[in-house]
Amino acid sequence: MSDLDGKRILLIIGGGIAAYKGLELIRALRKKNASVRCIMTRAAGEFVTPLSVASLSGDKVYSDLFSLTDEAEMGHIELSRDADLLVVAPATANLIAKMAHGEADDLASTALLATDKRVLIAPAMNVRMWLHAATQRNMAQLKEDGILSVGPDEGEMACGEFGPGRMAEPSEIVVAIENALKGATVLPFPGAQVAGGVARLEPPRPLAGRHVLITAGPTHEPIDPVRYIANRSSGKQGYALAAAALAAGARVTLVSGPVGIEPPEGVAVVPVETAIEMQAAAEKALPADIAIFAAAVADWRVAEAGQHKLKKTGEGAPAMQLVENPDILAGISRRKEKRPELVVGFAAETQDVIANAKAKLDRKGCDLIIANDVSAAGGVMGGEDNTVHVVGHGGVETWKTMKKADVAARLIALFAQRLKPRHG
Ligand SMILES: Cc1cc2nc3c(=O)[nH]c(=O)nc-3n(C[C@H](O)[C@H](O)[C@H](O)COP(=O)(O)O)c2cc1C
Repeated sequence: MSDLDGKRILLIIGGGIAAYKGLELIRALRKKNASVRCIMTRAAGEFVTPLSVASLSGDKVYSDLFSLTDEAEMGHIELSRDADLLVVAPATANLIAKMAHGEADDLASTALLATDKRVLIAPAMNVRMWLHAATQRNMAQLKEDGILSVGPDEGEMACGEFGPGRMAEPSEIVVAIENALKGATVLPFPGAQVAGGVARLEPPRPLAGRHVLITAGPTHEPIDPVRYIANRSSGKQGYALAAAALAAGARVTLVSGPVGIEPPEGVAVVPVETAIEMQAAAEKALPADIAIFAAAVADWRVAEAGQHKLKKTGEGAPAMQLVENPDILAGISRRKEKRPELVVGFAAETQDVIANAKAKLDRKGCDLIIANDVSAAGGVMGGEDNTVHVVGHGGVETWKTMKKADVAARLIALFAQRLKPRHG
């Protein structure tokens, strides 16, 4: 399954020579099972026909802000929001200028202003137009506003001149789209423009040069060779933290229990099964600047797991002696050597969430506890959303319910701020 499977892209095609590459982009996206809805500017219609765009996208093409039928079918606001990502390709100098100034005098610019989604632009224009102070000023403004961009590339242009201004190749744009969709809807790095759900063009990398250790997923504690004690942890929150730490520039080691999800590319994954293995892998990964223990480690294991499959004897269930698993969080929090500067634990609770988290903070000797209510009714375990309470020695902060990716991005930003700055 591709990362774009089922994703909805609103593609805005501007009036430039590169509009024909917009057609290739539609094909590439559809091949990856994304659905593509298109808006064409009036000028785009001079370069490619709405018929070609409609045929390739398999959807009607929108171009008129004041079309009674279009507006009745899908209003411009809905159009701009009924997508996972807005992509402008080619982004002409004119469209960039309009975006930078908040103009909304046609359907494309109005949709761009009305959206609550991330926007990725692929600028394409003559080298002089690109290098012009006005365009550069407008691009700086878009960057400030959190608009993402890909390209332009350098090379020979349709007009015969050479330099930066060629639109990025459709394959490059597809990668940029995949990356844009991977991240959180809102990137809360300091200075990020969060209004409208857009993200910075180039998020700062506050964890560049840092090592972040994360544990995630459940552990499996064997009863015999075929049975084990486990829990419902999916690993999604821990994996989202790994992706966010990576995006923030960190080197990431992810010690993962058995889960059914793919790790983010670029993360060093250490797969483990049991709590004892997880502890050994976590210790081995030190030193780290930040250690985040998001795994749902089984509290107990069977003292002596059967060497062979336990058989039903008809004489009642086997007696099973449980012993406590090692406390990985407390062990690393209390280390004299190689203690990470910031040690964060997760507390999965089903009652008295905050009180239990505060007690855990003191008991474990860590710096922060991220507490979440994992009662079945909340759907946190295995679900896409999470509601967390950030419990520190200075107090408790309760965050609104967010996607796990958004929780992860905000947590990583918070952790990065807690590190002492490095000099030199
Ligand atoms: C042949 C031709 C090619 C053009 N190519 C580009 C281009 O690559 N990039 C650009 O920004 N403008 C280009 N323009 C100018 C835009 O078409 C013009 O600024 C138009 O108003 C853009 O409208 P739009 O931004 O609403 O699509 C070109 C114009 C012509 C006549």
